[in-house]
Amino acid sequence: MKKILVATDKPFAKEAVEGIKKITEEAGFEFALLEKYTEVSQLLDAVKDVNAMIIRSDKVTPEVLDSAKNLEIVVRAGAGYDNVDLDAAAAKNVVVMNTPGQNSNAVAELALGMMVYAARNFYNGTSGSELLGKKLGILAYGNVGRLVAKIAKGFGMDVYAFDAFVPKGKIEQDGVKVVGSTEELFETCQYISLHIPANDVTKKSINKALVSKMTKNGVIVNTARKEVVHEEELLEVMMERTDIKYVSDIAPDSSHIFADKFDGRFFFTPKKMGAQTGEANINAGIAAINQIVNFFNNGDTTFKVN
Ligand code: 3PG
Repeated sequence: MKKILVATDKPFAKEAVEGIKKITEEAGFEFALLEKYTEVSQLLDAVKDVNAMIIRSDKVTPEVLDSAKNLEIVVRAGAGYDNVDLDAAAAKNVVVMNTPGQNSNAVAELALGMMVYAARNFYNGTSGSELLGKKLGILAYGNVGRLVAKIAKGFGMDVYAFDAFVPKGKIEQDGVKVVGSTEELFETCQYISLHIPANDVTKKSINKALVSKMTKNGVIVNTARKEVVHEEELLEVMMERTDIKYVSDIAPDSSHIFADKFDGRFFFTPKKMGAQTGEANINAGIAAINQIVNFFNNGDTTFKVN
């Protein structure tokens, strides 16, 4: 009997876990759960005899893959799969999938929530500003970027986007203005919302050259990955430009420096919270188990990323 492990350091909502368990057992497979683990050794132990894994931001390293001798498929319940060593998985014939779009609305709502929070000076009692009429630049117009645009238009924001891979017409049909480069987006917009994946090209790409181009009272909202921001250079710009704020869904490595130097100009979530809603957990978790069942029963490899 195939054994399917849900391995999530940051647990899904209870309903999502129950739904995954039900679908697993109805398909005639065995269900196993490892949540809130604190040591990698717990993960190495739990994967020993499993055929499939559902993960979130949990790291699937060569060490994990070596320990998981029977592993055939890993599904990252979510969008970004930079936490999975794709080459090591491919070398062991392990299929890796994600569940695109399933948690996007939750992330988009958080991005707007963080914008309001920054605009209102983190609810510190002082007079803040409104989003109405302000220019928002969306960097990468994928599932999350598109929803951020939709919600931001509800706030009356003037929405711009840049995405090197999405046709201009597809973005414009949403009533979003398209600019020709990332530089132009930063030059044009007061608010920048990041939705790029973390890869060799994008890591540290949000650098001094870009951030220093921002208009007055610029706010960077990062619900993507901390790695896409060049932290040292962001710190430099924030020293020079005391009007700039940085809000991020997960603290940067240098969060202690922000705490020391930039009081009232930053906010970081303690854990990555973008996709942490019951709805997103259910959508992504159920999609993940359905993809696994479909893979085992029908050989379906839709959403394979390696
Ligand atoms: C994603 O890539 O889907 C998001 O960053 C969510 O990550 P999480 O599942 O760890 O919350």
